[in-house]
Amino acid sequence: MKILHKEVLADTGGVRITKIKLSAPDIAKKAAAGQFVVVMVSKEGERIPLTVAEKDQASGTITLIFQEVGLTTKLLGRLGPGDSVYALAGPLGHATETKNYGNVIVIGGGVGIAEIYPVARALKETGNKITTIIGARTKDLLILESQLKSLSEQLYITTDDGSYGKRGFVTDILQELLAKKQISYSLIYAVGPIPMMEKVSQITKETNIKTIVSLNALMVDATGMCGCCRVTVGGNVKFSCIDGPEFDGHFVDWKELQKRSSIYIDPEQHICRLQNL
Ligand code: FAD
Ligand code: FES
Ligand code: MG
Repeated sequence: MKILHKEVLADTGGVRITKIKLSAPDIAKKAAAGQFVVVMVSKEGERIPLTVAEKDQASGTITLIFQEVGLTTKLLGRLGPGDSVYALAGPLGHATETKNYGNVIVIGGGVGIAEIYPVARALKETGNKITTIIGARTKDLLILESQLKSLSEQLYITTDDGSYGKRGFVTDILQELLAKKQISYSLIYAVGPIPMMEKVSQITKETNIKTIVSLNALMVDATGMCGCCRVTVGGNVKFSCIDGPEFDGHFVDWKELQKRSSIYIDPEQHICRLQNL
């Protein structure tokens, strides 16, 4: 579980997105698109889920891309090549169902771009034609543009401040593409902030296009034992770690997800302040 390589992909306005490559041969052997690992940075630390952005069986490595948003991601961001994380469990969650859907739109917002990347690659490998829409607050926070461009028939970019691509949100482009009716899309795959995934799902519900979202529910053990990651989908309680993390966006109870994901914000920020992070 040693870190072999580290690269800062974005570092601006207090936001840092970092890529690390770790030695994890058993996980590299099995991980598939859509799956994640749970990382413990130190023995005393909490567990956090992070998507396997890349894997390489030959070298026995996996790549994680994470945004430093709180204590654990900041502590992880302090580690460098030669350091080890205390524990790594995975691959966890169901893999994305990758078959030939035809025309697919993949949408990533913020660090969600790291999460759509392995899925876009797997969908491309199974013969799909990929249209990609990625968005960030500002140009310097946009990641993986060239990698996604090489997989996509078309790549659209939005920034909230208009510093790159089109000013606005990924959902603006989605609405435009669907309104044109030039291509018939069979699948929309979206990962990003909860309001973005909710809006994508609202838009595609009107046109009845299958929409898969990967939910960022709070997780603790990520093996189905604690119930922390429960979400309501189509009126049924699901555990995001073992039943997901992907679900049909048209049936997710978005209000509940938003409410639950912010339960610990105050204590989390308090600990960060105590540790001067
Ligand atoms: P905190 O200050 O503790 O929390 C900040 C916010 O992060 C919280 O308000 C909450 O919304 C979320 N969060 C905190 N703890 C958890 C937790 N245990 N489980 C889930 N969410 C939490 N982020 C990435 O940057 N890259 C990824 O590839 C990625 N993949 C993910 C895959 C899955 C399946 C899930 C559920 C989440 C993923 N996340 C990813 C989100 C990442 O887990 C959180 O950003 C991280 O846990 C924040 O921890 P923290 O201590 O740094 O921040
Ligand atoms: Fe504990 Fe899913 S994280 S049941
Ligand atoms: Mg935390």
